[in-house]
Amino acid sequence: MIHRHGIGIFDSGVGGLTVWRHVREQMPKVPLFYVADQAHVPYGRRSAAEITRFSERITRFLIAQGAAVVVVACNTATAAAVDYLRRTFPDTPIVGMEPAVKPAAAATQNGKIGVLATAGTFQSQRYSALLSRFARELVVLENPCPGLVEQIERGASGADKTRQLLQQFLTPMVDEGIDTLILGCTHYPFARPLIEEIAGPAVQIIDPAPAVARQAVRVYPYPDALLGDPSSLFWTTAASGRPVLEELAREIGVPSAVRVQLVNEKTPHL
Ligand code: DGL
Repeated sequence: MIHRHGIGIFDSGVGGLTVWRHVREQMPKVPLFYVADQAHVPYGRRSAAEITRFSERITRFLIAQGAAVVVVACNTATAAAVDYLRRTFPDTPIVGMEPAVKPAAAATQNGKIGVLATAGTFQSQRYSALLSRFARELVVLENPCPGLVEQIERGASGADKTRQLLQQFLTPMVDEGIDTLILGCTHYPFARPLIEEIAGPAVQIIDPAPAVARQAVRVYPYPDALLGDPSSLFWTTAASGRPVLEELAREIGVPSAVRVQLVNEKTPHL
């Protein structure tokens, strides 16, 4: 049995890299293992049962690689599977993430917030519970952003079509006068420059990734190893996704020598 001292991170695709960069910043010397399930992206329109099945396999794989903590760097997979993962892997802290409704409720001045997430997240029990706990007094405008994850997976987060989509998603929110906008899907921070431009300077944008990384530090069981091995390993379940994954990994500061490996049903533990 290998000694488990790394952090495993997964997402349906490239989105979890926007969480990876904060984990790396806060834990510069811990091995990080990342899986992008690009054979099954987008998760947003899949059933909770299916997402749970993928998430379980990936979590098992990450633990077998040496993850002592697993970060579900995907709001949709957290909504579908985090409770199941915690029951199934009771010896491994599992860090989930969800749309930052509580911080948005604290930050809004006018009580009007926008949430960009996926259909799967909006339909989940966990999201309704969040709204009833923290947003009872707020006007909440939601958009499941059809097509946006696909644009980002194509490496086209700054493209004209992405701009048109975001204009379509954000204009009703801006017209309604939101002053706070939650990025409730880990893919969307890649489109943040466009989102900021379209939403305008009066709208503050909330990305929960830094808080998720802090939680990973909190539950990491070996504080001494925080000065250990700084390796970074990446896998994808679809070779076709590899070029964009590698390109975006470079963009967030992964050394260019790091190569993404392919993992599929034939790989042990997946
Ligand atoms: N990145 C994922 C999230 O945070 C979802 C993207 C997808 O639909 O696959 O929700």
